[in-house]
Amino acid sequence: MSFLTISHLKKSFGATTVVHDFNLNIEKGEFVSFLGPSGCGKTTVLRMVAGFETPTSGKISIGGQDVVNLKPNQRNIGMVFQAYALFPNMTVAQNVAFGLKVAKKPQAEINATVHEMLSLIKLDHLADRYPYQLSGGQQQRVALARALATKPQVLLLDEPLSALDAKIRVSLREEIRAIQRKLGITTIFVTHDQEEALSISDRIVVMYEGKAEQVGAPFEIYNQPSSRFVASFVGTLNTLDATVRDAAAGIIAIDGKDVMIGQKITNHKVGDKISLAVRPEAVSLGEATDKRETTLDGKINSVHFLGSVIRIRASLGENTVSFDTFNNPSAPPPSPGENVKVSLAAKDMLLLGQ
Ligand SMILES: Nc1ncnc2c1ncn2[C@@H]1O[C@H](COP(=O)(O)OP(=O)(O)OP(=O)(O)O)[C@@H](O)[C@H]1O
Ligand SMILES: [Mg+2]
Repeated sequence: MSFLTISHLKKSFGATTVVHDFNLNIEKGEFVSFLGPSGCGKTTVLRMVAGFETPTSGKISIGGQDVVNLKPNQRNIGMVFQAYALFPNMTVAQNVAFGLKVAKKPQAEINATVHEMLSLIKLDHLADRYPYQLSGGQQQRVALARALATKPQVLLLDEPLSALDAKIRVSLREEIRAIQRKLGITTIFVTHDQEEALSISDRIVVMYEGKAEQVGAPFEIYNQPSSRFVASFVGTLNTLDATVRDAAAGIIAIDGKDVMIGQKITNHKVGDKISLAVRPEAVSLGEATDKRETTLDGKINSVHFLGSVIRIRASLGENTVSFDTFNNPSAPPPSPGENVKVSLAAKDMLLLGQ
């Protein structure tokens, strides 16, 4: 049986239901992210797991114990929030010691744990500082140390990085993941940043309007999205309009050019308009080099030089596609207005709404 089990969870505020029949099993030591747009219910599910919100119906169990009727402090859960929620009138060490003091642990044990936690987050040297004397990233590391000090059985992180700048976000997410692995603590990490979720999770729950749209490993979520919402929310997605030419053979026309998509088109007939999803990595500049690719005529709309990567937007007639190429110091990128060849890896195109 899974360590953390959420079954048929529902939450309504008055007449509005914000979480619908939410089901999820998390294994011990697993790192699971909730990824979804603002207002889709991520925090509400997390608050029900923590015990700050009572479910309208459904069950939550941790380590085989039903926790729905337990108070937050009886659930042995550590939580870190988006906003810095440190006690401003306490030093770093006092903040980390707080939960242990409340639990009336002996002073020697408190001192040892505070030391252990501060070295875990590499802030031992700042033990006597107050929160206002710390950077945002340091404050969130202290919040993490405080949440971990009581040795919780589950760690809940609600957008802990969203108030930080981009560079710190990346280094701190790696640090959180390393600490989580080291401690083997079962963790739910809430984010609306898809790159964050893809890069650090064992599994991702893509949420939409209070439901789990898809649950899977990052590779699976990205490469085999189960719905149009997941496909467009996770990663950059090009949507192309096409016309069916031969449904059984899987041939369509994109801006007048026949393309074999490598899958049967089941519920459409010749002449039907269809939509295709194409990831940027299935598009490249230049003639096709592989027989599973198709070459189309394109015109460059825009070129954004991002350093190691160059993001290009090109029109193929009515359709436009975005894709990336790597910087090549000896070959400058094309210019806007230039006519180019664009190749599409047809096998990687996903038929939407089948
Ligand atoms: N106490 C409350 N009373 C009424 N409605 C609420 C309450 N708490 C949350 N909601 C509503 O529930 C929905 C889900 O909110 P929730 O905070 O879980 O979203 P979220 O996915 O965490 O969004 P964000 O990414 O913006 O943090 C929202 O429409 C919100 O307005
Ligand atoms: Mg939230």
